[in-house]
Amino acid sequence: MRYLILCLGLLVAGNAATAVSNTASSTASAPLTTTLNITVEDLWNIYIGPVQSASINTTVEPTPIPSAQLIPPPQLYYPSYLPGAQIPGLGRNESWSFPKGFWWGVSGASYQVEGAVKVDGRGPSLWDAFTHRAMSVADNQTGDVAINEYYLYKQDIQRIAAMGVQAYSFSISWSRIFPFGNGPINEAGLQHYDDVINTCLEYGIQPQVTIYHWDLPLYLQLSYGGWTSPQIIDDYLAYARVLLERWGDKVSAWYTFNEPISFCGEYPVPDHYFTHTTTIPAIQQPYWCGHYMLLAAAKTYHLARSLNITAPISIKNSGGYKLPRTASPADTLAVQRAWAFNEGWFANPLFLGDYPPLLKNFTSSFLPEFTPEERTLIHGASDYFAHDAYTAAYYMAPDSGIEACLSDPSNSLYPKCYNSTYTLPDSEGGWLIGPASDPNTRWLHKATEWLPAFLHYIQDTWNPPNGIVITEFGMTEPFEAYKTKREDVLTDPLRSAYYHDYVQAMLMAVAEGVKLVGCSAWSIADNLEWTAGFTVKFGLQYVNLTTQERFYKASFFELARLFKTYMQD
Ligand code: BGC
Repeated sequence: MRYLILCLGLLVAGNAATAVSNTASSTASAPLTTTLNITVEDLWNIYIGPVQSASINTTVEPTPIPSAQLIPPPQLYYPSYLPGAQIPGLGRNESWSFPKGFWWGVSGASYQVEGAVKVDGRGPSLWDAFTHRAMSVADNQTGDVAINEYYLYKQDIQRIAAMGVQAYSFSISWSRIFPFGNGPINEAGLQHYDDVINTCLEYGIQPQVTIYHWDLPLYLQLSYGGWTSPQIIDDYLAYARVLLERWGDKVSAWYTFNEPISFCGEYPVPDHYFTHTTTIPAIQQPYWCGHYMLLAAAKTYHLARSLNITAPISIKNSGGYKLPRTASPADTLAVQRAWAFNEGWFANPLFLGDYPPLLKNFTSSFLPEFTPEERTLIHGASDYFAHDAYTAAYYMAPDSGIEACLSDPSNSLYPKCYNSTYTLPDSEGGWLIGPASDPNTRWLHKATEWLPAFLHYIQDTWNPPNGIVITEFGMTEPFEAYKTKREDVLTDPLRSAYYHDYVQAMLMAVAEGVKLVGCSAWSIADNLEWTAGFTVKFGLQYVNLTTQERFYKASFFELARLFKTYMQD
């Protein structure tokens, strides 16, 4: 059952095209092709090579959490908000509270946490190929073992429950369910997630599932170019159907996609490692990806409704708050372009019915107009405005000006034609937008004071009828990966301050009328930060990568305390 036919046009990863002929004749221009029966194991061997496996390789049953680990740090570090600050830890600002029904959770994603990449029939994903072959990853790290969540999930769920967390937002690895992305289903993969979901429910944690968090089954990239082909829509839908039918009555919230801006931005994929099946120009590829993603998400949304699934279904969008770097009209226009090419790319079709005009000025020369039926299908196909809202940045016009950029496709900023930075101009002192995170996450600053304005902007611009969910927020503590003493790692002042001020900003926004429904902090524990590997840490828990032991950081206690203080139920 693990056999599929693969037409090889072909590249063996990393090599120039290897032509294998079993046909009588060929022309100079047409590549020679052959048809092979290929197994999942062959895919691993040809495209990925050897992978590491973990020393813990059976499911671990939780043991009691040592009580000393549950003692919060002294309150004096992070006093409550005014007016309670005079009495650390006792105060509560009585004018603030989260609305009834508000939930808070922690999040992770399959390739970043699971490990066990070849276990129980999982097929390789695009990210196995990226980390092993096609991308430069810090210290050559991979997700082969990651934080071994595949075997440690019971304990991890127990640990978050002990901190009062209400929801665990995780993603399913598509190639565990369909090792080739389409075709045969792997029951072992489904059974694994049966148990993850049931364990959440056992501990009173709401399971929230992201159907796709970037780990495309490699076979789909090889056979038709992944998200650059319309074929992906039906394959995604078939995969989503299996999940919805299996867990539709257990999952509390579904996210069809995580951050399409990011994974569509991976196109074009690096040369020489993947079979080339698209003739779409590089600059257009992200927008075709986005187009197919929207159609796949919308079809999935309506499929779920036809299956009588009532849990909310949303797309996780991404991007930071955008401030004009100067008061010039050009910088104001740059900010508008940035909203259009980031959040608006997906939020406008989902909440307003079509792409933003500033984006369409570029894409209309190649993307088809949505048909009226497609428009109706997509409009409303995200229950919440789900946003990964980490930070903020300044935006400005390109040095050459927006108009000059728009008429010059060779400009490196084309077609977006805006620029961004984290500093004010030198004439205004050159200050950073907020304290810097780890040097390996240059994009991230603690800019929590802009969050209320950010949430108002979302609410006023896209008017999501069911409100906003902050699906990710988090911080890297500078140089954490270099710390050698556990206590130094666990005392994480910047991350604690970030969460402290972020929750305050959410409370202020709620008090001002923003309809905020819930939030999920990134991340449940330190994990593989994509091409930054393990050199930066986003975890609320430290993970000793040698022993795979977890320890709560001070910031986790801070976050838990704030929710306990300001939640109503
Ligand atoms: C992604 C996560 C990532 C996090 C921090 C989000 O963009 O969804 O996978 O680890 O940000 O960079």
